[in-house]
Amino acid sequence: MRLDKFLVSTGKLTRSESGRAARSGRLTVNGVSVRRADMHIDPEVDRVTLDGELIVYRRHTYIMLNKPSGYVSATDDKNLPTVLELLPEELRKLGLFPAGRLDRDTVGLMLLTDNGELAHFLLSPVSHVPKSYLFACRDALSSNDVETLKAGVDIGEEKPTKPAELTVNEDGLGGVITLSEGRYHQIKRMFEAVGNKITSLERLTFGPLALDASLARGEWRFLTPEEIAELEKHNRNK
Ligand code: URA
Repeated sequence: MRLDKFLVSTGKLTRSESGRAARSGRLTVNGVSVRRADMHIDPEVDRVTLDGELIVYRRHTYIMLNKPSGYVSATDDKNLPTVLELLPEELRKLGLFPAGRLDRDTVGLMLLTDNGELAHFLLSPVSHVPKSYLFACRDALSSNDVETLKAGVDIGEEKPTKPAELTVNEDGLGGVITLSEGRYHQIKRMFEAVGNKITSLERLTFGPLALDASLARGEWRFLTPEEIAELEKHNRNK
């Protein structure tokens, strides 16, 4: 792998910063100062430092995105902008994809990664990874609707939805719903099943991850080492 690609994938430097860092002597590989960021390294074996600090290699890249409305959860689309387009060009080359789908008009927490195994685990119906959403709906929910949504509703599939957690605001027009499965348009269809309509939806949590409130819509950041450890712990506990 090229040294600059390695640095980009760890989130330490952009590609052009990597070139500048090499030219100004800030980078070493196996203790030797290197002047070119396009050199090839074996990230599993070689020890890279930036300003004297060892850069820990991670096989995978994980990015938290605050998805804005209007973007599709895909890597490419003929007509519509994709969530990948919110990342800088050099990160788009790392083979990242969205772990799961949010509807085009749904906003909030989205994980982008190149770890197919972890994404598969997080999304598998047998894993029951909880995902919570802040919602608003057209009509005030009655206590009967709340009980029905919590218990599981018929959304026209073979099986009703699994039990969900639901807390509703005093006016009944919004709240937080937590699902442990992820069927197509699930929340919208659940509300339709009780004669209501979702008017806005924002994902707040995904397994152990919580949307970083400091990210504006469309902004992203690398996951912290602690967040990655939590995700991987989830995966190990399968
Ligand atoms: N449920 C929906 O209906 N839409 C989403 O985007 C996510 C969950």
